[in-house]
Amino acid sequence: MLNAIVTGANRGIGLALCRALSERGYRVTALCRQSSDALKTLPVEVHEGYDVTDESAIDVFANRVAPDSIDLLVNNAGVLQGMSLNALDIDSIRHQFEVNAIGPLRVTASLLPKLKHGSKVALITSRMGSMGDNDSGGSYGYRMSKAALNAAGVSLAKDLSVRGIAVALLHPGYVKTDMTGTAALIDTDESVAGLLDRIDQLNLDNSGSFWHMNGEILPW
Ligand SMILES: NC(=O)c1ccc[n+]([C@@H]2O[C@H](COP(=O)([O-])OP(=O)(O)OC[C@H]3O[C@@H](n4cnc5c(N)ncnc54)[C@H](OP(=O)(O)O)[C@@H]3O)[C@@H](O)[C@H]2O)c1
Repeated sequence: MLNAIVTGANRGIGLALCRALSERGYRVTALCRQSSDALKTLPVEVHEGYDVTDESAIDVFANRVAPDSIDLLVNNAGVLQGMSLNALDIDSIRHQFEVNAIGPLRVTASLLPKLKHGSKVALITSRMGSMGDNDSGGSYGYRMSKAALNAAGVSLAKDLSVRGIAVALLHPGYVKTDMTGTAALIDTDESVAGLLDRIDQLNLDNSGSFWHMNGEILPW
């Protein structure tokens, strides 16, 4: 049985990822700050109390994981706090960096000894972290933090290739979740189907790619 870990697993895309991965036969470890009724109904192992900004908590969790046991790590937890230029909130920008950029790097680094040779790391980023794709401005903390995550992802892809570990930067589409509300275009199941196709497609030759879940390569 393949082992997967998903962060931000209690709702939204993370919850749908847990469901889809368990349906595919993965043994899923769901990390979250607090579980949800929906997550509790899934046949997954839930670990509560894991804030991705809490370095010591992440290390405690990682120490409980068996070496060379993880086949797939999905860094999904993220936060969007909208912001315009005339209402900059530096604490909010800093928080979004902590959650969206440093969090996934911290989780991946802590779990490195637990990742198998040939395993995969998926970083759920956003096309809002793309500079080439930015045609509307604003969202300073979110855009900056996802761009930083993309930079970390490319370095991870290069550094982890010697261990046979491939890394993908995945935009999930414009998905109906608490983050976006009903104006978004697709539901979580459609997003996750595409994300899992990209994870299937991921290998050492295309490691470090920045993909839309529909398979399009996105500009940096
Ligand atoms: N929805 C979209 O259209 C869209 C587009 C592009 C990218 N994304 C990305 O997709 C990922 C999932 O987003 P979503 O749409 O599913 O949003 P969501 O419904 O708001 O879910 C966000 C998840 O992240 C968790 N989280 C937030 N801060 C955390 C922290 N400090 N430590 C641990 N977990 C934390 C939340 O847990 P709590 O319940 O504890 O807050 C929740 O499980 C995010 O990385 C987001 O940036 C989404």
